[in-house]
Amino acid sequence: PAINFMHPDGKSDRIETSDSESAMQAATRHGLDGILAECGGNAMCATCHVYVDEDWLGRLPAIGDDEDALLDGTAAERLPNSRLSCQIVITPDLDGLVLRLPERQV
Ligand code: FES
Repeated sequence: PAINFMHPDGKSDRIETSDSESAMQAATRHGLDGILAECGGNAMCATCHVYVDEDWLGRLPAIGDDEDALLDGTAAERLPNSRLSCQIVITPDLDGLVLRLPERQV
Protein backbone atom coordinates (compact mmCIF):
# COMPACT_ATOMS: atom_id res chain seq x y z
CA PRO A 1 0.00 0.00 0.00
CA ALA A 2 1.02 3.62 -0.48
CA ILE A 3 0.06 6.53 1.77
CA ASN A 4 0.19 10.28 1.29
CA PHE A 5 1.64 12.89 3.62
CA MET A 6 0.58 16.49 3.04
CA HIS A 7 3.02 19.12 4.32
CA PRO A 8 1.85 22.42 5.83
CA ASP A 9 3.25 24.26 2.77
CA GLY A 10 0.99 22.28 0.44
CA LYS A 11 3.60 19.85 -0.87
CA SER A 12 2.85 16.17 -0.61
CA ASP A 13 4.82 12.94 -0.49
CA ARG A 14 3.50 9.56 -1.56
CA ILE A 15 5.25 6.78 0.30
CA GLU A 16 5.25 3.05 -0.33
CA THR A 17 4.67 1.08 2.85
CA SER A 18 5.23 -2.52 3.78
CA ASP A 19 2.35 -4.49 5.16
CA SER A 20 1.91 -4.15 8.94
CA GLU A 21 4.38 -1.27 9.15
CA SER A 22 3.09 1.85 10.93
CA ALA A 23 2.61 5.13 9.09
CA MET A 24 5.38 6.56 11.30
CA GLN A 25 7.82 3.76 10.35
CA ALA A 26 7.14 4.30 6.66
CA ALA A 27 7.70 8.04 7.06
CA THR A 28 10.95 7.75 8.98
CA ARG A 29 12.28 5.03 6.66
CA HIS A 30 11.88 7.54 3.84
CA GLY A 31 13.40 10.40 5.86
CA LEU A 32 10.21 12.41 5.69
CA ASP A 33 10.41 15.89 7.25
CA GLY A 34 7.68 16.52 9.74
CA ILE A 35 7.63 13.24 11.67
CA LEU A 36 10.17 13.10 14.48
CA ALA A 37 9.10 9.96 16.35
CA GLU A 38 11.53 10.52 19.22
CA CYS A 39 10.32 7.50 21.19
CA GLY A 40 10.61 5.13 18.25
CA GLY A 41 6.95 4.20 18.11
CA ASN A 42 6.21 3.37 21.73
CA ALA A 43 3.39 5.88 22.16
CA MET A 44 5.49 7.95 24.55
CA CYS A 45 6.56 11.12 22.73
CA ALA A 46 3.71 12.50 20.57
CA THR A 47 6.23 13.79 17.99
CA CYS A 48 4.62 11.64 15.29
CA HIS A 49 1.36 13.63 15.41
CA VAL A 50 -0.71 13.77 12.22
CA TYR A 51 -4.13 15.00 11.17
CA VAL A 52 -6.06 12.30 9.37
CA ASP A 53 -7.95 13.37 6.26
CA GLU A 54 -11.68 13.37 7.10
CA ASP A 55 -12.50 10.83 4.41
CA TRP A 56 -10.27 8.29 6.11
CA LEU A 57 -11.01 8.97 9.74
CA GLY A 58 -13.72 6.34 10.15
CA ARG A 59 -11.58 3.67 8.53
CA LEU A 60 -8.84 3.69 11.14
CA PRO A 61 -8.85 1.58 14.30
CA ALA A 62 -10.08 3.38 17.41
CA ILE A 63 -7.70 5.51 19.49
CA GLY A 64 -6.10 3.61 22.37
CA ASP A 65 -6.00 5.04 25.90
CA ASP A 66 -2.25 5.74 25.79
CA GLU A 67 -2.59 7.44 22.44
CA ASP A 68 -5.54 9.50 23.66
CA ALA A 69 -3.61 10.73 26.71
CA LEU A 70 -0.52 11.61 24.66
CA LEU A 71 -2.52 13.50 22.07
CA ASP A 72 -3.34 16.00 24.81
CA GLY A 73 0.35 16.93 24.84
CA THR A 74 1.07 17.51 21.16
CA ALA A 75 3.09 20.60 20.19
CA ALA A 76 0.57 21.62 17.55
CA GLU A 77 -3.08 21.92 18.50
CA ARG A 78 -5.00 18.68 18.96
CA LEU A 79 -7.95 18.49 16.59
CA PRO A 80 -10.76 15.90 16.36
CA ASN A 81 -8.83 14.16 13.58
CA SER A 82 -5.49 14.06 15.44
CA ARG A 83 -3.73 10.70 15.69
CA LEU A 84 -0.26 9.38 16.45
CA SER A 85 1.14 7.98 13.24
CA CYS A 86 3.06 5.26 15.11
CA GLN A 87 -0.29 3.81 16.16
CA ILE A 88 -1.65 3.62 12.62
CA VAL A 89 -0.73 0.23 11.21
CA ILE A 90 -0.98 0.20 7.44
CA THR A 91 -3.09 -2.57 5.92
CA PRO A 92 -4.11 -3.03 2.27
CA ASP A 93 -7.43 -1.32 3.13
CA LEU A 94 -5.54 1.87 3.86
CA ASP A 95 -3.98 2.16 0.42
CA GLY A 96 -4.25 5.84 -0.50
CA LEU A 97 -4.56 7.08 3.10
CA VAL A 98 -4.03 10.84 3.43
CA LEU A 99 -2.29 12.25 6.54
CA ARG A 100 -1.64 15.96 7.07
CA LEU A 101 1.46 17.03 8.95
CA PRO A 102 1.15 19.62 11.73
CA GLU A 103 3.16 22.86 11.71
CA ARG A 104 5.47 21.51 14.41
CA GLN A 105 6.18 18.42 16.51
CA VAL A 106 8.09 20.02 19.40
FE1 FES B 1 6.56 8.44 19.80
FE2 FES B 1 4.62 7.91 18.08
S1 FES B 1 6.73 7.79 17.77
S2 FES B 1 4.44 8.53 20.13
